[in-house]
Amino acid sequence: MKIEFATTRPEAADVLAFIVTKSSFEGFAFPLDNAQMVHDTAKLARFKGDAGQSFLLIASEGGKLVRIVLLGVAEGDAGDYQKAGGEIIAKVQTSGAKHIAIHAENLSAQAAAEAAYGATLRNWRMDKYRTKLADTSKPSVEALSVAGAPAEAATLWSRYAAIADGVALTRELVTEPANIIYPESFVERCKHLADLGIEITILDDKQMAELGMGALLGVAQGSRRPARLLAMKWDGTGGAQARPVAFVGKGVTFDTGGISIKPAAGMEDMKWDMGGAGAVAGVMKALAGRKAKAHVVGICGLVENMPDGNAQRPGDIVTSMSGQTIEVLNTDAEGRLVLCDALHWTQETYNPEYIVDLATLTGAIIVSLGSEYAGMFTNDDGLADKLTAAGKASGDPLWRFPLSKAYDKMIDSPIADMKNIGGKGAGSITAAQFLQRFIKDGVKWAHLDIAGTVWADKPGAVWDKGATGFGVRLLDRFVADNFEG
Ligand code: BES
Ligand code: MN
Ligand code: ZN
Repeated sequence: MKIEFATTRPEAADVLAFIVTKSSFEGFAFPLDNAQMVHDTAKLARFKGDAGQSFLLIASEGGKLVRIVLLGVAEGDAGDYQKAGGEIIAKVQTSGAKHIAIHAENLSAQAAAEAAYGATLRNWRMDKYRTKLADTSKPSVEALSVAGAPAEAATLWSRYAAIADGVALTRELVTEPANIIYPESFVERCKHLADLGIEITILDDKQMAELGMGALLGVAQGSRRPARLLAMKWDGTGGAQARPVAFVGKGVTFDTGGISIKPAAGMEDMKWDMGGAGAVAGVMKALAGRKAKAHVVGICGLVENMPDGNAQRPGDIVTSMSGQTIEVLNTDAEGRLVLCDALHWTQETYNPEYIVDLATLTGAIIVSLGSEYAGMFTNDDGLADKLTAAGKASGDPLWRFPLSKAYDKMIDSPIADMKNIGGKGAGSITAAQFLQRFIKDGVKWAHLDIAGTVWADKPGAVWDKGATGFGVRLLDRFVADNFEG
């Protein structure tokens, strides 16, 4: 979908969208042949301009029939304009309409850009494997014009467009099945980020073996697909910010559980067990795309967790790059094994001031929070506040969970330094405690358990069902608000 900012509404538009606040709606002068009819039908449908309300009707304009979409934003909070933009797409994406015009004469630059952003996010879908999609189910919208917004809207938009591109990359990586996206092909799909000025480093399995990444490689050894570590570096400060912010993602391109194999029902979901790594790649694309004035590194630990004859067994003891040993009691608790080596390598290589890791780590976080919030675990209250605020503002919300010595004790092992599962209960917390054992003193660290938020069973305001792109908007906002001066 092509997005343009225009001074006047293009002739070709066959959908006109009006975004109205509650207070503006009653007296709103629709530039249509019969404005009163729009008011009358809206009234019949009980449309008042409340946040989230929408109404689709047909009206005539210059004697020509056009679809009209009315969207309510109540008092007009930024998030409401995004949702309104998304709702326009939800209403007409496959309707046969080709060209949407958002009437933006009544909108601020910010509101107009937010609406275009919401529409762009909501418009993403993957149809490449649907060779027999009926014409009536195909997306028909080719262009979106934002007409009559203040001139700064287009400038604001370029920033949103970069973030939307990052979200799209994440969704693509998450949506692709595991026969298409595996560690090596994940890396290939990210190589184009070099064109944006991102420096890419790739470690193969041999290099990781030399570094002693026995925990990550222990997971990978049951798969025919070799592991990879992908590091992406963006420095938009010209060296002024010495210590980077690091984002580290769990990239299990498929999680069968290994020898502790998962039940068949629903196992296909485990193609998106690389959602943390996908978000890291996406946020790097967003940051570089908008030339963020910050120094950020993104690291993806990429493996496939399979149960072949070479797979690790329950009870195996592996040595991580940090030197700490781990008794692998359950091969399905593999994400922490991948992350512990990725986290250690990240600290050794980049000496980051902050680390945020993202992982579809535990089913337990879904029991706790469902799919509304992701779980946050952190050793630093200031970081908790920054991430919580970024979550609220971006639409990727976080809820903090505790860490403590008592939970930490639950992963002590009688034979090794630790075991990879806790006891009964607190499964998300003991997973976080495990990761914390690999964080060096003085490093501000947060772990985000995004198992509930990567994939949506039903459409949301700015995504269709499927991959949400969770984490990209959050981390982009976290960087923008805290590291760009
Ligand atoms: N990838 C899963 C967690 C998961 C479950 C993500 C459902 C998304 C949806 C993770 O590797 C896993 O299997 N965790 C186990 C840990 C347990 C063995 C301690 C779990 O949550 O059951
Ligand atoms: Mn698992
Ligand atoms: Zn997993």
